[in-house]
Parts: sequence; C-alpha cells; structure tokens
Amino acid sequence: MKGLILSGGKGTRLRPLTHTSAKQLVPVANKPVLFYGIESLVAAGITEIGIVVGDTHAEIEAAVGDGTRFGAHVTYIPQDAPRGLAHAVLIAETFLAGDRFVMYLGDNLLQRGITSLVAEYLSLGVDCEILLTKVPNPSSFGVAELDSSGRVVRLVEKPKEPRSDLALVGVYLFNDAVFEAVKAIKPSARGELEITDAIQWLVDNGNSVKAHLVSGWWKDTGKAEDMLEANRTVLDAAEPLGEPVADDLSRVEGKVVFEGGPGSVVLVDSVVRGPAILGAGTRIERSFVGPYTAIAAGCRLTGVEIENSIVWEGSTLEDVPLRISDSLIGRNVVIKRRPEMRPKAHRFLVGDNSEIGIGE
Ligand code: G1P
Repeated sequence: MKGLILSGGKGTRLRPLTHTSAKQLVPVANKPVLFYGIESLVAAGITEIGIVVGDTHAEIEAAVGDGTRFGAHVTYIPQDAPRGLAHAVLIAETFLAGDRFVMYLGDNLLQRGITSLVAEYLSLGVDCEILLTKVPNPSSFGVAELDSSGRVVRLVEKPKEPRSDLALVGVYLFNDAVFEAVKAIKPSARGELEITDAIQWLVDNGNSVKAHLVSGWWKDTGKAEDMLEANRTVLDAAEPLGEPVADDLSRVEGKVVFEGGPGSVVLVDSVVRGPAILGAGTRIERSFVGPYTAIAAGCRLTGVEIENSIVWEGSTLEDVPLRISDSLIGRNVVIKRRPEMRPKAHRFLVGDNSEIGIGE
C-alpha cells in the first residue's frame, strides 16, 4: 500500500501565519501538522509516500527531505495550481500505479492515527473507505448522507443546506477504481476536480464505498481557537519527557515535555504547569508557563505569564503586564514592556491580517 499526502494550497484562512509558512507546517505541540500525517502513515506500515506540492514546495521539501528521518521514502509530485483533490490523484497515477493507497490531506490531524483503518480497509476488500465525523458546521466540508443501514447514499461538497452533520475527514482509502472516477468527473463550481464528486461517481457506478465514523479528528478552519484546540488535544496525550536545568526557585508541575536533550531548556525562578512543551534552547525566567502552552525552540520568556498559547521559534516575551492567554505568536516576534519609551504608548509593528487583543 502507498501513501499520497496533499500538501499544496495557500492556507489563506490561517493568515497572517501562512504569509510566511505553508499551512501544513504550522506547528501543533511544536511539530508541523504535516509530520503527524507522515508519522501515521509510517506507523500503519506505509513507507512509500508521494507528496503533492504546489507554491510552497521548497518549504515543504526543506522540512520533510527524502523521508529518511521518518523511515519513509518520499517522492514529490508537483501540481501546477490548486486544481482540486481529485486532480492530485490524477497526476499521481503513475506514482500510485497498481497499488491501493491512503490519501491524506496534509492539514488534517487524526488523534488515533490510521493503523486500524488501514487494516480494516485491507480486510474488507472494498473499493473505497471514507472517514466521517460529526461537525457543528457541515457546510464547510464535504458532507455524506447515509441510509438507515449506514450505506453511503450521497456526498456533496460544501452544501449550503447540508442533509447531515457528517463531514468527510481528509483521509481516504482507494484502489485503482478511483482513477476511472477522477477522469470521468467534471470541475465543480469553484473550478476544481472534487474528490467528493469522484467518490460519488464510485457509488453511482456500483463500486463498494464503506463509511467509517471517527472521533478525535481535527482540521484548521482558520480560527486561532481551532489551532489551540489541536494543540490541547495533542498535549493532553503527550508523555512527560526530558529534564530542564532549573534553579531552586523553579518548579515543574504535571506533564511537561522538554525538548533538545538534557539541560537544553533553562528555568530560572519560574513555574511550568503542564500539559506543556518547551523547545530546545528556550529560557524561562521569572515567568509562569501554564497548561496547554507550546513554546518552540530558542524562545526567551522573562517576567511573563502565559497559558493556552502557541509560540513559534525564536520569539521574545518580556515583562508583559497581563497574563498572555489564548494566543498564537509567530516566529521571531518580540513583545516587550518598555517603560523608558517616549511617548508612553503601545507601539506596534504588525503584519497584514494580524489581530491584537488589549486586555485593559
Ligand atoms: C477538503 C475536501 C472536503 C473535506 C475536507 C477535510 O476541503 O474538499 O470534502 O471535508 O477537505 O479536511 P478543503 O480543505 O479543500 O476546503
């Protein structure tokens, strides 16, 4: 069995963070979302992986390389423009030739992995297996309608009036019947070849399509809250790891992951309360790092309190008067109290589509 990961797309819904980073590389608990997908495939025994890439190919290739570090062999498949998920299958036909495969959307995260799903698909011998989950906003997804015996009747991409609350999760299992389907369908109203339409074609043409309900699924829908929720989910399941260098005034409570090997993270007069993760080379001084916080490598926190937040690499937070909460902070950001500054004011140098909430 092979893996096909889709990693094109512009990530407009996650701006400003995706102005400078591919959406599949946005970190959840200090790890790019895409890496969870690659690791799930490898854990399910799938090591021949094709990654469909678009505009952000250089960044994706720099992060993933040839796959060796994941125990996989990665082939890159360039897509000239985002022409739809079914188009990605079409251009990957030569790579996939003859094998059954898992298609995995690079911005999706399945908490429980896919190992048992792959085993189920192989043992059932069906043509296609789709994963569904109940969502509060089905209009933002592909939506499935099942009959009373759980058989797939109809699939509609982003319906205005959804007939169920069952969204298609971005993981699909196919055999080579799908190639006929992706060649037969026509572009949708948004001008893309929809995988949802290809699966409907499979249903209409007598192929066996099995629906499997999952929980513990996450996908970004563009709000910071969605990313923080993914971060919380992953941190909840993480095991404590590593040791910081800490002075006598510092305390670590609950499950905390310290990255970068022994002593790479430094704590001075600080409390870290898990679940949390602190990246290599990060220094925390006179600070409180509270539950559900992920601080990436090389950050410096001095005189701050922070919780339920994600901070990317190399950022500096210093003497911020109120606790920082529910925040996403990008790379190399500086947030600093500067009492000597004249005029006495808030001074911002903030990129497009940023959002700042001032507590009082
Ligand atoms: C795509 C699919 C949609 C599916 C979703 C899951 O949507 O078209 O059917 O429910 O992925 O992540 P898109 O990310 O293109 O909006």
